[in-house]
This record gives sequence, structure tokens and C-alpha cells, in this order.
Amino acid sequence: MNKLNVGLIGAGRMGAFHGETIAHRLLQANLYAISDPVPGAAERLISQLDENSIAYIDPMELIQDSSIDAVVIASPARTHASNILAAIKQGKAVFCEKPMAVNLKEANDIVQAIDESNILMQVGFNRRFDKGFKAAHAEITSGKIGTPQLLKSTTRDPKLMRAESIPEWTIFLETLIHDFDTLMYLNPGAKPIEVYAAADALIRPDLKESGLLDTAIVTIKFDNGALATAEANFQAVYGYDIRAEVFGSEGMITAGGIRKSSMTRYNHNGVSFDTSRYDQDLLFDAYVDELRSFVDCVIHNKPTLATSEDARWALKIALASIESVKNNCPIKLDHFVLV
Ligand SMILES: NC(=O)c1ccc[n+]([C@@H]2O[C@H](COP(=O)([O-])OP(=O)(O)OC[C@H]3O[C@@H](n4cnc5c(N)ncnc54)[C@H](O)[C@@H]3O)[C@@H](O)[C@H]2O)c1
Repeated sequence: MNKLNVGLIGAGRMGAFHGETIAHRLLQANLYAISDPVPGAAERLISQLDENSIAYIDPMELIQDSSIDAVVIASPARTHASNILAAIKQGKAVFCEKPMAVNLKEANDIVQAIDESNILMQVGFNRRFDKGFKAAHAEITSGKIGTPQLLKSTTRDPKLMRAESIPEWTIFLETLIHDFDTLMYLNPGAKPIEVYAAADALIRPDLKESGLLDTAIVTIKFDNGALATAEANFQAVYGYDIRAEVFGSEGMITAGGIRKSSMTRYNHNGVSFDTSRYDQDLLFDAYVDELRSFVDCVIHNKPTLATSEDARWALKIALASIESVKNNCPIKLDHFVLV
């Protein structure tokens, strides 16, 4: 195959980063087209990235373009499932930003469509492509810390922005979804059996009535006995903070960190270092590598490293967390009808 022709759906913040990766950072991909419903948005991004790309308003037109081999979906969460299903129907490989879907019916439909079609799909669980998290996974898989007993995963965004327009339950469906996947990735083969969540609006208590939750903690019991916590907060004043820890019978592994670089400053005030204020700085390499891996999998017909099945598991934990907050009680995953 020559270069893979990629169509990008969504020309916003993440779409612009992925578009630049496809156009300029990957040798085997070509940014064939961009679609965005906001008039002029796709054209603006095209003018910055690749003048030869085609602009579409309607994602379905892009999906139906027979020159396109694969689509990258970076539109808002609630639009993902319909675009994925349409792309699978047209025989296109799919990379979709998280979450793959926002309810279990959509997730089941996607997993089934993929099983029936053998289409390759990857979900934007970028921590699986971060060097530290990958190394942690390899150590744990090879048994170097024995049996996992306690796991932690943390996401703290640097600043709560556009708080009024954050859709309900975003902290579980769009933020902690990364941590739920990370906990499964770092506890290989184990399945979650029970979830208990608490959440509040501690940064903007005035928005709690309108549905904002900006701080949350979830405990998860796994079927191999391991106990895990996932926690998130939308405003860490010291910078973007993504970390994980796995404590096992033979030791402990940590991954992630907050340093912007390896530079450390020593002066009259003591010792300090800079932190990242932006996910695209902290996770730059992981964001590029996830798409590099996707393109490589499509070209060489290899299974992707963050599948629709992985995304369905993370979604199940997110939906059970929401149910747990609503009812203020633990939720058993096998008893709970997740729809
Ligand atoms: N992996 C990560 O860590 C990470 C980080 C940020 C965002 N994301 C995800 O990326 C996705 C996009 O987030 P963003 O921050 O770029 O949002 P954004 O609002 O900046 O961009 C979304 C873009 O999609 C367009 N759009 C709206 N409806 C559409 C539709 N039906 N079809 C196609 N395009 C449509 C909008 O006009 C906008 O240009 C979300 O799912 C988000 O959760 C992932």
C-alpha cells in the first residue's frame, strides 16, 4: 500500500493535533480530507496543514469518500458511536478519540460490528502509548512485581475551563475513562467486579445544581483480588498531573509524572522544576505514537493496542460509577444492567 489516506472528523483542539500528526509527523499517512460542521473550520485547518486536503461539512460525506482508507474521529464524545458505525459499514479502519461511546448499547453495537467485519479499530487511550506506562505494563506482565494487590490511577487537569458548558457526567465518561483503562492495562487479564464512586463540585460548588462534577474518586474491586482507586480533579494549580502506581506481592511500579522536562532548578528559594500546563505538552509523544501505531497496524494488518473491547470495559466502569454516585452505593458489574 502507498500512503494511507486518512480522513479526519472534527477540526477542534484534538483534531488539530491529530491532523498535524497525520500531515507532518507520520511518513506513511496522508491527510486526505477533514470534516467539521462549523462553516470554515475544516478549511482553516487545511490551510495550516495541507493545502491538498478536501474539506467536508458532513462527516458522512467524508466517510463515504472511496479514496479514504481510514478515519480519525476527534468530534465531541456524543457523536463518536454513529460515526464509528458508519465508517465500519464503509469498510474504513477507525481511530476514535475516547470515549468510544457513551452508553452500552452503542458500545455493544460497535464491538459486534467489528467482530463481524474484521475492521481495525483503535481508541484514543494514549497512556498505553506513553513510554513510562508501556514499561510499567511490560514489567507487570512479566511478573516482576508479583500479583497486583493495590492500584492507583490519577488524572488532574491544570485548569477548569468553560465549566458552564461541560456536559453532565464528563468526569467519568471523558476524564476518568482514561484511568479506568489504565487500571485494566496495568492489571492484565483481570476484570472489574464492583465499583463504588463519590463525586462533587469542589472547584465550582455554584455549578453543582446544574450538574457539574469536578472532583471524583472511584474504588474498583477486580476478580484477581486487586483493589484499585481512580481519582480526578479538574484544577491542579501546580500543573497537569497523570500518574499510576501498582503495588504487588513482589514490589511496586509507578508511572507518569508532572515534570515538563528533566531540568531541575537550584537557587535561593530551594529546588524546583517546571510542570506542563497543557495535555498536548505532557503527552506529546504518546499522542503521536498512538497514531503512528494505528497507521502501522492498518498498513500491516496487525491488531491494534487499544481495542473496542478495551473501550467497552472502561465504559462499563464509567457507567457503573455514574450509577454508584446516583444511588450512593457500590455497584456489582455482573448484576447491573448497563444500558
Ligand atoms: N485523549 C485525550 O487525552 C483527549 C484530550 C482532549 C480531548 N479528547 C477527546 O477528543 C474529542 C474532541 O475534543 P476537543 O477537545 O478537540 O473538542 P473541541 O470542541 O475543541 O473540537 C470538537 C470539534 O468537533 C466539531 N464537531 C461538532 N459536532 C461534530 C459532528 N457531529 N461531526 C464532526 N465534527 C463535529 C466541532 O465543530 C469542533 O471543531 C472528545 O471526544 C474529547 O474527549 C481526548
